[in-house]
Amino acid sequence: MGRRSSTDEAYWKDYDGLQAVKHRILAKYLSGWFPILSTFKGQLLYLDCHAGRGRHVTGDPGSPILVLEQLRDHRLLPQILDRVAIACHFFELDQSNAARLREEIAKVGALHPRIGVHVHSTDYEAALSQALDELDEIGTELPPSFAFIDPYGFKLSMNFMNRLLSAGRTETLINVMYRYVDMAVPRAPMATILDKLFGTRGWRRLRQIDDKQARFTAFVRLFSAQLAAEHVSWIVMRGDSGEVKYVLFHGTNSLAGRRVMKQAIWAALPDGNATAYERDRPEQGVLLSATQNHDRDIATLLGKRLGGKTVRLFEDVYPVVDASPYRRVHVHPVLRLGVQQGSVRNVDHPGKFVISKNPRLQIPVEFSLAKEPKQSDLFGES
Ligand SMILES: C[S@@+](CC[C@H](N)C(=O)[O-])C[C@H]1O[C@@H](n2cnc3c(N)ncnc32)[C@H](O)[C@@H]1O
Repeated sequence: MGRRSSTDEAYWKDYDGLQAVKHRILAKYLSGWFPILSTFKGQLLYLDCHAGRGRHVTGDPGSPILVLEQLRDHRLLPQILDRVAIACHFFELDQSNAARLREEIAKVGALHPRIGVHVHSTDYEAALSQALDELDEIGTELPPSFAFIDPYGFKLSMNFMNRLLSAGRTETLINVMYRYVDMAVPRAPMATILDKLFGTRGWRRLRQIDDKQARFTAFVRLFSAQLAAEHVSWIVMRGDSGEVKYVLFHGTNSLAGRRVMKQAIWAALPDGNATAYERDRPEQGVLLSATQNHDRDIATLLGKRLGGKTVRLFEDVYPVVDASPYRRVHVHPVLRLGVQQGSVRNVDHPGKFVISKNPRLQIPVEFSLAKEPKQSDLFGES
């Protein structure tokens, strides 16, 4: 990009609530991802494919600075770096943005020598494709990697993203400007770009859907199904009048990664304009919102999946919860209340529910609660 675009200028001038949610999710996620992945020893890669300038005119940090500060101040940094070296690769095509980014990075101060910082003022897709080709040639996998893909528009390649996701233990957080995608769908000249974005010609059926919400659901369903990731979550970012502006898709093949993302989403959501969903349930719209009470849905889920059985909390209940949009901390108060009310039976210690004892529980088929747990029970735990 040689000349300054007005989009670029406008983007860096402002810092809105949705950008803040996006950054909160990224930072919260990485704070859990770095320690988990450090158990693999060796190297971790953080790939920021659209790194930007590093700081908005408002003073708010951009993604690279956020990530470096997150790492610099991480309370487990010594333990993490004992096991892994972390290489952060920031790709920024615009030379002047890249120069500003380098200045901002210098202001972060000295980082531990096992944290490598590399700014590439080049196209991320070309650079990473070449790196993947080289790894392929020597038959080596990419080290555990997290790729943040955050363009202005929607010129993305599903094939490339899936190549990354399949290259090793890779996760992606992809920001898709849905508003622009929706505007492009009926326009014939945009077909090639959309073929590349979705990695299929199947997006053409969106043209037949008149209803806005149904079209959006179909978009999410198609995009998430195309991602080569076992677990896909997404967060919908809406403008002031409720219109969908963009969607952040998280793709991972690791259940641990998915759990950390759920934690990050729940922590970042109280904003009100952001809502999160997961792949299996676009229509039902399981809304991950910290301001709602989900106990009834959780009880129904447990009844459906485990009803009529005697199960262990850790071995049987947790996998069901992990594969759902809920977190383990959301399930504890529901089970506790179930035990107190007598609908759930603690086989070894009737009437008691102590998490650390990994209780054996009999879950009823029709599991419902006589009263709801308090909000503080649901969200007070970490
Ligand atoms: C939305 S901004 C990135 C914001 C940044 N991720 C943040 O959260 O602070 C998009 C950036 O991507 C850069 N960019 C666009 N196409 C690119 C490409 N193919 N490779 C690398 N950078 C690119 C643009 O110059 C712009 O600075």
